[in-house]
Amino acid sequence: MDISIRQADEITIEFVVDYCLRCDFKNYSKNEFRQLKKKYLRRLDTGTYWCFVAQIKARPVGYVDFEITSEYGNSHLWVCELYVHEVLRGKGIGTALMNYAIKFARKKGFKEIFACTENDNIASKRVFKKTKYIPARIVYVRNLLK
Ligand SMILES: CC(C)(COP(=O)(O)OP(=O)(O)OC[C@H]1O[C@@H](n2cnc3c(N)ncnc32)[C@H](O)[C@@H]1OP(=O)(O)O)[C@@H](O)C(=O)NCCC(=O)NCCS
Repeated sequence: MDISIRQADEITIEFVVDYCLRCDFKNYSKNEFRQLKKKYLRRLDTGTYWCFVAQIKARPVGYVDFEITSEYGNSHLWVCELYVHEVLRGKGIGTALMNYAIKFARKKGFKEIFACTENDNIASKRVFKKTKYIPARIVYVRNLLK
């Protein structure tokens, strides 16, 4: 499979925007799409946010994005999202995207990159393991309705 990974641009960011909107709503309006696209294009210009899109024959099939965020006064690089189109999963695209992000961050001089996922997200946990992440924290949740 011939995959290329490139920094998101005005065109390929639409794939990211579409995914984000589909996560939140089943259907979305053109206006919602336009607004979120604008937001993402601004984010790409901040210098603290990066997004890389995997493409097959110029068609976006997945992405990874990450940004510098402040937590308890310290700045860390956090993976915001890693996504691969449903029909193309299990072919190494998610791993390739994550490795690309790691290589990019290392080149930029970052010493660490953080990510989190749901405990039952086996695929993303597998990608993190394959790309040498180690568990650093455990978040507990108490269901207050039980
Ligand atoms: C997480 C995600 C990006 C992985 O993308 P991908 O292209 O399928 O990733 P890869 O093919 O590189 O690796 C997936 C690994 O998970 C494994 N896997 C996937 N589902 C699995 C399951 N139910 N049980 C066990 N292993 C599973 C695959 O076998 C593969 O491991 P292997 O290479 O050792 O065989 C993709 O599943 C996705 O987009 N999920 C929805 C969004 C999401 O949850 N993102 C993560 C948020 S942090």
